[in-house]
Amino acid sequence: MAKVLLSAKGIEIRFGGVIAADGIDLDVYEGENLAIIGPNGAGKTTFLNVSTGYLRPQAGSVSFLGRDITAQLPRTVTRLGIARAFQIPQLFLDQTVMENMLIAAASLNGHPSGFRALSGLPQVSEMTRLLDLVGVGQFAGRKARELPEGQRKLVDIALALALKPRLLLMDEPTSGVASSEKFGIMDILTRALAREKVTSVFVEHDMDVVERYANRVAVWSMGKIQKIGTPVQVLADPKVREHVIGI
Ligand SMILES: Nc1ncnc2c1ncn2[C@@H]1O[C@H](COP(=O)(O)OP(=O)(O)O)[C@@H](O)[C@H]1O
Ligand SMILES: [Mg+2]
Repeated sequence: MAKVLLSAKGIEIRFGGVIAADGIDLDVYEGENLAIIGPNGAGKTTFLNVSTGYLRPQAGSVSFLGRDITAQLPRTVTRLGIARAFQIPQLFLDQTVMENMLIAAASLNGHPSGFRALSGLPQVSEMTRLLDLVGVGQFAGRKARELPEGQRKLVDIALALALKPRLLLMDEPTSGVASSEKFGIMDILTRALAREKVTSVFVEHDMDVVERYANRVAVWSMGKIQKIGTPVQVLADPKVREHVIGI
């Protein structure tokens, strides 16, 4: 039985009259790639926000490796081993790709803007290794804004890996990427995660991506987990097909 990395119990969040989390219980196991699917407004991003300290639930708790992280600050959660990649990559567009990597690595050590402190050779070579791992090493000296969308997504993954996570949470890693590029990006991403022994949870709207890359799928709807299981079990369910996938 794989070890539980993240465990959410009874999470409740309301925004005024909107219930964004209505009793979410979820265990994430070491080594899995768990996909979260569900309609807009179901509470998927809210769950990622709660799991990373960006939002504090009104009820319930989240633990990571057995430690309660419910009331921890995002930077503490990051240091404990949970990283986040965003729907829109959070890059400093006028800095080079390598500078972005060094800034990310420095933030882990409590120097949010002081990448001077960590631009030593060992750090640069580790960041080069991570950029190469996701296939963007050749762009290290280029400004982030010069990269096409797909390459920016890969840099965003490398930035998350620079934080040395055990768990990576991703909000629609393939959004904004042409369908023809999606599998390529996900191939690189899943290979890098396996190589670095990083578990992942990713929100995804493309069911071809879910079917191909997730070991387990959780269906979110109106702040609840409606179903959870293997991609085959979940994607074949007529209710999921009708209400979530829309076919
Ligand atoms: N900061 C916020 N303030 C007010 N309402 C919010 C906030 N964040 C999310 N919501 C609401 O909570 C619900 C769930 O949102 P979200 O988690 O972003 O859904 P999803 O990611 O599944 O599309 C939505 O109705 C959304 O409008
Ligand atoms: Mg969302």
